[in-house]
Amino acid sequence: MDSSGLMGRKSVDDIVESGEGEQQLSKSLGALSITAMGIGAIIGAGIFVLTGTAAAQYAGPGIMLSFVLGGIACAFVGLCYSEMAALIPVAGSSYTYTYATLGEFFAWLIGWDLILEYAMGAATVAVGWSGYMTSILKSVGIVIPAQFANAPGTPIEGGGTALFNLPAVLIVALITILLMRGTKESARFNNVMVAVKLTVVIAFIVLGWSHVNAANWSPLIPENDGTFGHFGTSGVLRGAGVVFFAFIGFDAVSTAAQEARRPQKDMPIGILGSLAVCTILYVLVAAVLTGLVPYKELNVPDPIAKGVDVIGIGWFALLIKLGALTGLTTVILVLLYGQSRIFFTMAQDGLLPKMFSHVHPTYQTPYRSQALIGAAVAVVAALVPIHILGEMVSIGTLAAFILVCGSVLYLRRAERHMKRPFRAPAVPVVPILGILSCLLLMIGLPLDTWLRLVIWMAIGLVVYFFYGRKHSVLRRKEGNLA
Ligand code: ALA
Repeated sequence: MDSSGLMGRKSVDDIVESGEGEQQLSKSLGALSITAMGIGAIIGAGIFVLTGTAAAQYAGPGIMLSFVLGGIACAFVGLCYSEMAALIPVAGSSYTYTYATLGEFFAWLIGWDLILEYAMGAATVAVGWSGYMTSILKSVGIVIPAQFANAPGTPIEGGGTALFNLPAVLIVALITILLMRGTKESARFNNVMVAVKLTVVIAFIVLGWSHVNAANWSPLIPENDGTFGHFGTSGVLRGAGVVFFAFIGFDAVSTAAQEARRPQKDMPIGILGSLAVCTILYVLVAAVLTGLVPYKELNVPDPIAKGVDVIGIGWFALLIKLGALTGLTTVILVLLYGQSRIFFTMAQDGLLPKMFSHVHPTYQTPYRSQALIGAAVAVVAALVPIHILGEMVSIGTLAAFILVCGSVLYLRRAERHMKRPFRAPAVPVVPILGILSCLLLMIGLPLDTWLRLVIWMAIGLVVYFFYGRKHSVLRRKEGNLA
């Protein structure tokens, strides 16, 4: 095996100049749409579902601090992402950055790894969506039988186990059809949904604030119960690991770089703006929630709705559930969108079949790829439980974040003179802190999640050596094909 084949690296100039299909995808997104897209991808199952569990089991009211920690870690990574997204404004996200820095082999690994974040992430949130939908329908008298609303094997009340998760399949199918029809339409729909989601979250903070019982915040960090991660400082840390899921998605903004009108400005605004808005909202929601409800009672699938019960405005409870549903919908939309754009770029590089870069003549979307991704995500959402999916998403995303921080470090040395429209501050400190904080969160994840990651990456290697390496456009250009 020749080393150049493994390490074949695209030049950053080539990537930017070629625009990689720039003529085909339409440039229809402004800074506001991109920031909305970021918020659309970020606020979802993390805040609406996982906050309660993390507070009840690990951090208590200290979950507020967990969100601060998660926000700080993502800020380091977000700064690095912004530098890369402005420097290399093409679809493909960290896959493309890695191609330009560490070479094709690592780019493939990261592209394969990103499937965990985007496709599996969409499946995870679809399962959360199914939970909220089932609960809303139940409150209006429509009961979806539990065996058709859970992963196979999930025990159901009254005996027996579930078969598959039908609502999760339906929402993935619906959004896939929307995305196949056009980016602009999807972005418009997304803006409206994001507005609804933000209104609901802010209303919760404003209405809830005056009902907070400050005694519920004391002690802020409940005493550790003798087990690592169960309250105390280590509990706040573990809580940060769990609610990290809530921040995932700010990087999805970078997959839209090719469709941005002014990528060099819009990318950093989109990434850092959406991250900042969400971090502030998360800390406030966590504060209000743990102030309304004693943390021990928050171990429920719809913790925010439980908080609303304390506020005591009946109609607001339904509104919150609808807002959560909307929130989860936008997350699925952005993640499915992001996945198709990453595949688009990988197919243009020859690492995936050409079909994934085929663009519809009228809709200007990679519609075939979108349909295939939708089908695969629907199958996963139908069959796999949320906690397994969620942990896979976290570990895959953290690995990708580490490579992006590494790429910033590398490019600052290797391509010193490139014009950087946005520069991450305090390099190398910021990327190094980004790498260390992601590593810390990865180490906190359970062993079987690590094993699943290893198996997934091993499958990726097989695909690369039997397909990608043979069809690589770069290797063909360099005359490296075996
Ligand atoms: N951050 C996204 C969510 O919480 C993935 O649903």
